[in-house]
Amino acid sequence: MSRESRIFKPSAEFKNQANLGSYATYRRLYLESVNAPDRFWGKQAKQFLAWRKPFSSVLKWKAPHAKWFTGGQLNVSENCLDRHLQTARANKAAIIFEGEPGDTRTITYAQLQREVCQFANVLESLGLRKGDRAAIYLPMVPEAAVAMLACARVGVIHTVIFGGFSAEAIKDRVNDCQAKLVITADGGWRRGKVVELKTNVDRALPHTPTVQHVVVLKRTGNAVVMTERRDRWWHDLMASAPITHKAKAHDSETPLFILYTSGSTGKPKGVLHTSAGYLLGTTMTSHYVFDLKDTDVYWCTADIGWITGHSYVVYGPLSCGATVLMYEGAPNQPEPDRFWSIIDKHGVTIFYTAPTAIRAFMRWGDDYVKKHSLASLRLLGSVGEPINPEAWMWYHTLIGKKRCPIVDTWWQTETGAIMVTPLPGAIPTTPGSCTLPFFGVVPKVLDEKGVEVPVNSGGKLFLTQPWPSMLRTLWNDDDRFKKQYWSEIPGLYFCGDGARKDKNGYLWVVGRIDDVLNVSGHRIGTAEVESALVSHPSVAEAAVVGRPDDLKGQALVVFVTLKSGMVASDALKEQLRAHVGKEIGSLAKPDDVRFAAGLPKTRSGKIMRRLLKELATSGDIKGDTTTLEDFSIITALKADEE
Ligand code: WTA
Repeated sequence: MSRESRIFKPSAEFKNQANLGSYATYRRLYLESVNAPDRFWGKQAKQFLAWRKPFSSVLKWKAPHAKWFTGGQLNVSENCLDRHLQTARANKAAIIFEGEPGDTRTITYAQLQREVCQFANVLESLGLRKGDRAAIYLPMVPEAAVAMLACARVGVIHTVIFGGFSAEAIKDRVNDCQAKLVITADGGWRRGKVVELKTNVDRALPHTPTVQHVVVLKRTGNAVVMTERRDRWWHDLMASAPITHKAKAHDSETPLFILYTSGSTGKPKGVLHTSAGYLLGTTMTSHYVFDLKDTDVYWCTADIGWITGHSYVVYGPLSCGATVLMYEGAPNQPEPDRFWSIIDKHGVTIFYTAPTAIRAFMRWGDDYVKKHSLASLRLLGSVGEPINPEAWMWYHTLIGKKRCPIVDTWWQTETGAIMVTPLPGAIPTTPGSCTLPFFGVVPKVLDEKGVEVPVNSGGKLFLTQPWPSMLRTLWNDDDRFKKQYWSEIPGLYFCGDGARKDKNGYLWVVGRIDDVLNVSGHRIGTAEVESALVSHPSVAEAAVVGRPDDLKGQALVVFVTLKSGMVASDALKEQLRAHVGKEIGSLAKPDDVRFAAGLPKTRSGKIMRRLLKELATSGDIKGDTTTLEDFSIITALKADEE
């Protein structure tokens, strides 16, 4: 990647219509945002958000705790819905939905607002109040957005659990945040099959004492067991719910949602985002990065179970009054051209997806793309992992027909909104680089001592100034919050990624340098998978490492030692894979299970994953083994390799 030198400038045509169409304007606003942040953010917050009560201060910063826009009050759902109803947007499509079986629905802003009001009334009728927690475990259907926005309206803190997670994962998350309510569906469609969501919830709920109610959406029509008094059908509750709901004004720092994400221990972290700052970050980036116009049909392919689905399917684009396309299912159902056929059918103009998806499309072959015109597209985006230049060029040529700028957006669950990205009408792009910081973001690449590394040298990526959409803490674990993000160099935010800056100041993110893997754009903690493995009766010890993978970015390779008397076999490998699937979800199933007589450790007993990673990647170990306690283990591992 360091040899990449192709530069793509935005076309005059794109610049002329862009929400921000010149580098000079970007530069001027950027400098203001970092030199006079209070003035800058104060102005933006007034311009981009609708306030019930004006804020009295922009930022109160006592590292690592930030309070943005204190004194101010607003309602996030009102910003995403009600404020558009007084405009020509009232009868414009807010959501165009396509289910995997091909069913479609268009929901206007007025209709969406009404449904959200109804569901807000449902929440209140079930006894939920501001500050309570509700878990959402739904397929990619409009009701997922309705549930999130209704929670926001009432002040209920939602935690969305990705539909691919297992009953165990539901249990852990629900218990960690003590949710009172679970909102789910009978099932969702994925590759022509029903994913039985309600059944998973039923498996989790005997172990979640705080849950009082379950609301069940009928989507797939498969039989489900309804537990009397606890479980209620969505449609029954909605049928009797009033269609108006007066939104209360909430303080700027009112918690909006908790989203669990993998970290370097076995326990997922509950990243907490609050209202005004998060909404400002997602709204502004939607406006400037996606260049949203009222005429756009905008499609972000992320599931609402991830931060990208929160920020760029729901909150950001709806706050901008955009038309959002939502698709329920798999990209290759019924054929590998489903995405392209959706783009043509609905006239999608902006398309935002992940490099792993792009690489899958490349593998499936260009013919699937060439069957479709894709003439409506004008802007492309990428997120979730570094995009390799080859995939970037394919995206640019085959999908964008060399006409659409590509925004490679770097950010995280914790940052809430896009942090480093081209602005498509202003910043020239180069394949593989996420280019320059968004307003207010100060990324620095530092060495162990906190000194900025020279141009093109690698280091750790830090953000050195607070920003409005930053996470506020980890739910119930402020100590971990401080330790995880703010202790590497006190007072600076460490994101866990490695990066370098080139001579133009463009940022090149290399990927995670902590114990987190990025598999198909999904963060998976090695410790989480290890603890799942050791919970299997046959496993004594486990170490999980990542191996570069053409399709997934990284593949999961696990080394396990067995308890005495247990015998290694292919059947046991399969059992272990299934076990991890059950404990976490199929996204965490190891690609490769290897049995070992022992694992390489330091004298203090720490597993040397670095050596295992080398072995999994290159089939050999040449790295520094001086701290290794027992060298014979390496000899044995290498022998197994052969
Ligand atoms: C990686 C997803 C390179 C990175 C929004 C980060 C990226 C992690 C990019 C966050 C990108 C995301 N280029 N790497 N454009 N976007 N990443 O929390 O390692 O699911 O730390 O948020 O994904 O993943 P998360």
